[in-house]
Amino acid sequence: MADMLSFLRKVWELARPYRVRLFLGVLAGAIAGILEPLVIAAFTAVFHLIFSPGTEPLSRHLKNVPQFVQDAIPQVVWNWLETARQALAGSAKAHPAAVIGLVAVIPAVMFLRGLFSYLNIYFLQWAAIRAITDLRVRLFEHLMNLSAGFFNATNSAELMSRITLDTTNLQSIIGNATAVIVKDPVTLIGLLVYLLLKQPKLTLISMVVMPLCVIPIAVYGRKVRRSAGSLQDHYAELSNVMSEAFTGNRIVKAYNLEPTVVERFRDTARKLIGHTMRIVRAMEIPGPLLELFGAVGVAFVFLYLAFAGGDRASYSDFLGFLLAIFSMYRPIKNLSRLQNNLVQARAASDRIFELLATTSTIPEPANPKPLSAVGKDIQFENIKFAFGEKPVLQGINLTVKAGQFVALVGSTGSGKTTLTNLLLRFYDPQQGVVRIGGIDIREVSTRELRNQIAVVTQETALFNETIRRNIELGRLGVSEAEIIAAAQHAHAHGFIMEKPQGYETVVGERGVAVSGGQRQRIAIARAITRNAPILILDEATNSLDAESESIVQAALEELMQGRTTFCIAHRLSTIQRADVIAVFEQGRIVELGRHAELLNRNGVYRRLYEMQFRTEPEEAK
Ligand code: GTP
Ligand code: MG
Repeated sequence: MADMLSFLRKVWELARPYRVRLFLGVLAGAIAGILEPLVIAAFTAVFHLIFSPGTEPLSRHLKNVPQFVQDAIPQVVWNWLETARQALAGSAKAHPAAVIGLVAVIPAVMFLRGLFSYLNIYFLQWAAIRAITDLRVRLFEHLMNLSAGFFNATNSAELMSRITLDTTNLQSIIGNATAVIVKDPVTLIGLLVYLLLKQPKLTLISMVVMPLCVIPIAVYGRKVRRSAGSLQDHYAELSNVMSEAFTGNRIVKAYNLEPTVVERFRDTARKLIGHTMRIVRAMEIPGPLLELFGAVGVAFVFLYLAFAGGDRASYSDFLGFLLAIFSMYRPIKNLSRLQNNLVQARAASDRIFELLATTSTIPEPANPKPLSAVGKDIQFENIKFAFGEKPVLQGINLTVKAGQFVALVGSTGSGKTTLTNLLLRFYDPQQGVVRIGGIDIREVSTRELRNQIAVVTQETALFNETIRRNIELGRLGVSEAEIIAAAQHAHAHGFIMEKPQGYETVVGERGVAVSGGQRQRIAIARAITRNAPILILDEATNSLDAESESIVQAALEELMQGRTTFCIAHRLSTIQRADVIAVFEQGRIVELGRHAELLNRNGVYRRLYEMQFRTEPEEAK
C-alpha cells in the first residue's frame, strides 16, 4: 500500500505540469458521473408521462428527478412540460412540438453525458501523453548521459522496450485510471444515493450479495501483479531476439540460421502466452461474475415482490430501479479493473524509475576546469584498469608530448583500445591519473574533454543519414566547403561524386549502403571536420585496400600535422615514422621507443615486425 502511494506520487509528479487539463478532465468525469442517474430520472419521467399522463400532477411524474434538479427547472420549461402532459392526456396532436420536446429530453441528457465522458477522456489523455512524452525524453536523455560502461552491461533492445512499451503502459494508467478513479465512484455514489432515496428497501435487498464481489477482484488482482512483471521481461527479451536477428541478418542468412533464430523467437513469444492469458482472465472473469451477482440481487428483489407483495412499485419506478442497478455494473467493472491496471503500470514504472535512478559511473566535476589541449602534453600515470575482475591495463606510464605521433601496437586484446577509451573518459581507471597539460581529465567536463578529440575507430559507426550529414556531425554547423574539403582530404570525394545522389546519398543503417572502405573514409572525413587537437586512429585504415590505404595514409598524415595523435595499427608499415611506439602485451607497455631503436632491441617489436615482414614482404620495408 505504501509503495503504491509512492508510485502514485511519482505519477503525479509527472502529470503535474499538465494539472489544469488534468483537473478539467476529472471535472468533466465527475459531471458525466452525476449525469448518469439523471439519464435514468429523465427516462422514467418521460416513461411515466407517456403511459399515464392524466392521472397525476406534473410534480408527481417528476418524482424520480432529484429535487435540486426540479428546482433548477425554469418556469418556461415547467409550463412547456405541463403543456406536453395535458396534450398527452388528451391528444398528442394538440401540441406536437411540446410532446416532441418532452421526448427529446432523453437524447439531450444522453448527449450531455456523452459529451462530458468524451471531454473526460480527452483531457486526461491530453495530459497523459504529454506527461509520458516528457518522461520518455527524460529517460532517453538520462540514458544518453550514462557512461560507456553502462551500455556495455545493458542490452540495448531492453532499453528500447523500456522507452517504448513500459512508458506506454504508464500512459494508460495516467489516462484511463484517472478517468476511472473519479468518474466511476461519482457515478456509483450518484446511482446509490438515487436508489436509496427512491427505493431503499428494494435496493438493500438487491445489495445483499454485493460484498461477494470483493472476492474475485482480490483473488485475480494478486495474479496480475505476478504476471505483469514477467510480461514486461519477456517483451524486452523478445525485442532483444528481434534486434539481434535483424542487425545480424547477413550472418543469419550466410549460416542458414533462420530456423534457429525463428525457433528462439517462437520460444520467447510463447512465454508471453501464459502470462497474457492470466491477465486476460483477471480482467475478464470479475465482470461476468459481477453481472451474475447483480442478477442474483435482482432475483431476490423479484422474490421479495412476489412473496411479500404489498407495496409494489409502479412500473416506471421499477423500471428506474432496474436501470439504475444495471447502470452500476459498468463502473463497478471499471473499478475492479483499475486495481489490475495500477498493478501493471507499477510493474512498468518500477523499471523506468530504476533506470532514471542509475547514476553515471563517470561523474561530472562540480566545478569543471576549462581545457584547451592545443600544445599540451598528455600523461598516463600509473594506470590500472580492469573490467570487473579482469585486469586489462596494469601500471601504464606514458607521456606524449604535444603534437607527437604515438603508435600503440601489440597483440589483440592487449589493451590498446582501452587506453584510448580512458583518454576519452569512457571509463575511469581504478588507479592512476590521465592528465592533459597537467590537468586531471576528471576535473574537466566530459563535453569539453571530448571536444578536444577526434576519433576514427575500428568499428566505424555511421548514422542512417546522408553522407553530408555524417561528415557534418564531426562539428555541427561546419560549412559546405569544409565538408567537401574534408572529403577530399579523406579521399572520399571521388567515390561520393560517383554516387547518383552524391553527398545526399543515404548510407543506410550502420552504413550498409556503402562499402567498408567507403565507410571508413567517411568516418575519416568526419574526424577531419572536427579539427581537434587530439586524434585517435584505431585501425583507421584497416578496411582499405593497399592503394587507398597509402592515399588515405597520406591524408591522415596531413591531418596529423600539429595534432597529438594516438594511432593503433596492426600493420606496422603505417607507423614506422611514429615519434614513439608503445608495444603492449597483456595490459603492459613492454617496449617504448622509435622504430629503429625497437628493431635493434631484438624484443617483442622485432618479433612482430619480422612476422609481418615474412607474410607481407612488399609492405614491411
Ligand atoms: P585489438 O583491438 O583486437 O587489437 O585489441 P585491443 O588491444 O584494442 O584490446 P582492448 O583494449 O579492446 O581490450 C583489452 C581487453 O579488455 C580484452 O581482453 C577484452 O576482452 C577486454 N574488453 C574490452 N572491452 C570490454 C568490455 O566492454 N567489457 C569487458 N568485460 N571486457 C572488455
Ligand atoms: Mg582495439
